[in-house]
Amino acid sequence: MHTDSLFTAEPFIIHQDYATYTNEQHAVWAELVRRVYPELEKHAAREYLEGFEIVGLQRDRLPNLDLINKRLMPRTGWNCTSVSGFLPAAAFFELLAARQFPTTTWLRSKDSLEYIPEPDIFHDVFGHVPMHAHSVFTESMERYGRLCASTQSEQIIEKLSRAFWYTVEFGLIRQAGQVKAFGSGLMSSHGECMNVMNGNCAIHEFSLDEVLATPIRPNQQHSLLFAVDSFEQIYDAMHESERRAMNGTL
Ligand SMILES: [Fe+2]
Repeated sequence: MHTDSLFTAEPFIIHQDYATYTNEQHAVWAELVRRVYPELEKHAAREYLEGFEIVGLQRDRLPNLDLINKRLMPRTGWNCTSVSGFLPAAAFFELLAARQFPTTTWLRSKDSLEYIPEPDIFHDVFGHVPMHAHSVFTESMERYGRLCASTQSEQIIEKLSRAFWYTVEFGLIRQAGQVKAFGSGLMSSHGECMNVMNGNCAIHEFSLDEVLATPIRPNQQHSLLFAVDSFEQIYDAMHESERRAMNGTL
């Protein structure tokens, strides 16, 4: 790990003690995967499904982050960095800029399979990490992290967080004439994914201007999401956001 310069994030970095997960926790992971994966085979972007195999996620066992990192790092230079919980924004940006994805290690209980107030390892790893095997996608995340880490402007960070939310967290993509999902909040929530795929959510063509003008409502199902044509479009959107931030027009 490249922790030398992680001044803000360093106190939050922990070690995943994989041996302490119980059989019941592994069973909860297996149940979460069983509920959502059949839908993802139909509705997920092919890059997500390929990434799932590349990083070596297992359907019946919680992920061992050291083993995932061994497969992921040679591919894109990214890793999963275990953290103690929800991070201050500055620490989150700092880690992304260093290609380290902050990853919680706790798992929701079997009594709250669908809704949790904060990300857990199912959201962070099952939801996010398969896409981290994709180089253009991860370059977009790194650019986002660098840009947010380099500004003190709340307004710029707020706007950029919308670009992140409507791509990395809840992004859709058109592939072979169909809308497919890749955002982590769709991958890790059966309810969110089916809300979109059952037609209960408007889907607009991705437009940076519209995305930047669309506030985030984290505690309700989406009524509007955006579909890109390619992952290069996300990279270009981050690049354009950076240009606007630099010249004061974001
Ligand atoms: Fe997330």
